[in-house]
Amino acid sequence: MDLKRVKTLIYRALARPRVRKSYEMAQEAMVATTSSSRLASHAFHTVAPLRFSREQHAVLSGQRAYYAQLDQARRSAPALRRNTHRLEKGLLMRPPRPVFALEYIGETLDFFDAAVGGFLLEESEIDVAELRWAADVLAAYFARTEGQKEVAEHHNRYKKIALSLSPSSLSPSSLSPSEASEPKVPYKRGSQPSPVTYDQMLALSMRRRSVRWFTDQEVDRKLIDQALAVARQAPTACNRMPYEFLVYDDPELVPLIAGIPFGTGGYSDNIPVIVVVVGQLSNYFSPRDRHAIYVDSSLASMSFMFALETVGLASCAINWPDFEPLERKMANTLGLDRSERPIMLIAVGHADPVGEVAFSQKKELDTFRHYNRIRTSD
Ligand SMILES: Cc1cc2nc3c(=O)[nH]c(=O)nc-3n(C[C@H](O)[C@H](O)[C@H](O)COP(=O)(O)O)c2cc1C
Repeated sequence: MDLKRVKTLIYRALARPRVRKSYEMAQEAMVATTSSSRLASHAFHTVAPLRFSREQHAVLSGQRAYYAQLDQARRSAPALRRNTHRLEKGLLMRPPRPVFALEYIGETLDFFDAAVGGFLLEESEIDVAELRWAADVLAAYFARTEGQKEVAEHHNRYKKIALSLSPSSLSPSSLSPSEASEPKVPYKRGSQPSPVTYDQMLALSMRRRSVRWFTDQEVDRKLIDQALAVARQAPTACNRMPYEFLVYDDPELVPLIAGIPFGTGGYSDNIPVIVVVVGQLSNYFSPRDRHAIYVDSSLASMSFMFALETVGLASCAINWPDFEPLERKMANTLGLDRSERPIMLIAVGHADPVGEVAFSQKKELDTFRHYNRIRTSD
């Protein structure tokens, strides 16, 4: 029996008040018991191991992939990105520190060495802008720590690696010559006012609404890329950017992919472009950071959706439940790795001007904003 048929049967059964009531009573009783303590919760998850097993497997697969790629030259290297960011934060601390990062400067040079090695290979796919950022930050670090005994050995090693790089070889062609000549190191923010006023921002936020009806006008990829250029400016933990935006605009693929989640029922065939936002757990050595894929991808997705509005496109975020049959179907359809997890889908297109948009009332500020609140147990 296919998944859609099972779903329909479940929905029909739950539409009967007595079935629904019994189901809800059983659920309530079960969670009342299993949530009564951490031990009870742990016992429940031991006997119901399949609930989060895909996520657990994904987290471990991500850790394995993280370690496997440490000494490999990759287009983008998570460990190098993280450590470069730690160094740039160290450089901007107040008061200035004469020496810091002793515990990780050695491994940073390992990661840098691997990236430079990859870059020097012919037909390398290394992200030149990322490598240039690492090179500039390391140069600033060794300029700051010049003469410090503890870093002398690292400094010598850095000089050897840097010798193989000429500054011009790290000027990505996408940068203007003046931009390429600016070192990618901490800079002073200045006091210019925001280029966007509050009223403009508020108006943009009111204009962006979830749109489910689109015209059949083709979506120019240039517009999607413009919006993605805004999305990538979103903050991410340690600047890892642990996501990919998989954009599907092939008319044969779109309905296939847009039809996978539950939430597109009734309008999946009307979606011109579907984006699958995928989080990559291979960015982390520790499970403590496993939520960052959801946080970082969501921040970028929000920027993406705002930017889409500014280039004349509309969007609708689509829920991705942690539901094994759908996870399997999506992973098989897109060829996702075990350490990659869909975060959400985003439908994109030109809004149908006569298509209706849900009102979706927002909460009043007082219901979700609390200044200085500390709950006390009574
Ligand atoms: C993470 C997320 C998941 C969503 N999932 C769906 C979905 O599966 N199907 C759908 O039609 N809308 C979905 N939406 C859109 C919401 O229904 C919508 O954002 C909400 O009602 C607020 O309306 P607005 O976006 O117009 O402000 C989702 C939104 C978010 C942020």
